[in-house]
Amino acid sequence: MKKSGIFITGTDTGVGKTVVAAGFALALKALGLKVGVMKPVATGCQGFEPRLHSEDAIFLLEAAENEYPPLTNPVRYRNPLAPSVAAVLERKAVNVAHIHHAYQELQKYYDFIIVEGIGGLMVPLKKDYFVTNLIREFHLPVVIVAHGGLGSINHTLLTIDAAVIRGFDIRGIIFNRVSRVNVSLAEMTNPKVIHELSGVPVLGTLPDIDGLDARNCCFGDLKEIFEERIQFQKVLPTPTVPA
Ligand SMILES: Nc1ncnc2c1ncn2[C@@H]1O[C@H](COP(=O)(O)OP(=O)(O)O)[C@@H](O)[C@H]1O
Ligand SMILES: [Mg+2]
Repeated sequence: MKKSGIFITGTDTGVGKTVVAAGFALALKALGLKVGVMKPVATGCQGFEPRLHSEDAIFLLEAAENEYPPLTNPVRYRNPLAPSVAAVLERKAVNVAHIHHAYQELQKYYDFIIVEGIGGLMVPLKKDYFVTNLIREFHLPVVIVAHGGLGSINHTLLTIDAAVIRGFDIRGIIFNRVSRVNVSLAEMTNPKVIHELSGVPVLGTLPDIDGLDARNCCFGDLKEIFEERIQFQKVLPTPTVPA
């Protein structure tokens, strides 16, 4: 299979990128793919150097059962800030070359790499360099994770706009934590409205998943629910038919 992957971005931080990235890892692994995961830059990491670690990266590593942890999260900061800001505070610039090296190494081991961004598209990593720059340099299509409730039309369309003007291939939107009971009017109508206004496909909707606890690496029924509700195969490259 051709080496490929997907970049998981979101309308905001805390919207469910890590959960969705883990869902893709669990579902694609079950198809028999060699799936790698990457969190290129993490802030708000736990512990101290050299054991500074990202909870997101650990959750993704557990989901994908990867064996090369140092490559998964090459750049880490302790302070819960945008990377460019944490970098100044901690006197350690974001090393983009280091990120690229890790990404290239991961491609040697895995067929499909799931990359989780940090925050949304316009989070700065350093001067004049945003998450969008990383996406362009990785040459990856994107999935946008959004909340389904009131406010999501604006947040999601802004994110789609920022992606479209940069020529990104948006594979779809996933709405996360949509209520199972007492679904709000906004949650009920937003996916269709956002699809109609943007033309971007909706890959599915995830509810709140019992037993899912990223902090403690508990997946609950994430795999089964993801497989059932998300059109996850749409992120795979379409096979080229020989002429
Ligand atoms: N569908 C879900 N069901 C239950 N908990 C969820 C769900 N999606 C996210 N969470 C929880 O919400 C928090 C934020 O989600 P996370 O995936 O870490 O967001 P992001 O990566 O965008 O910052 C985490 O504690 C996670 O466990
Ligand atoms: Mg995350």
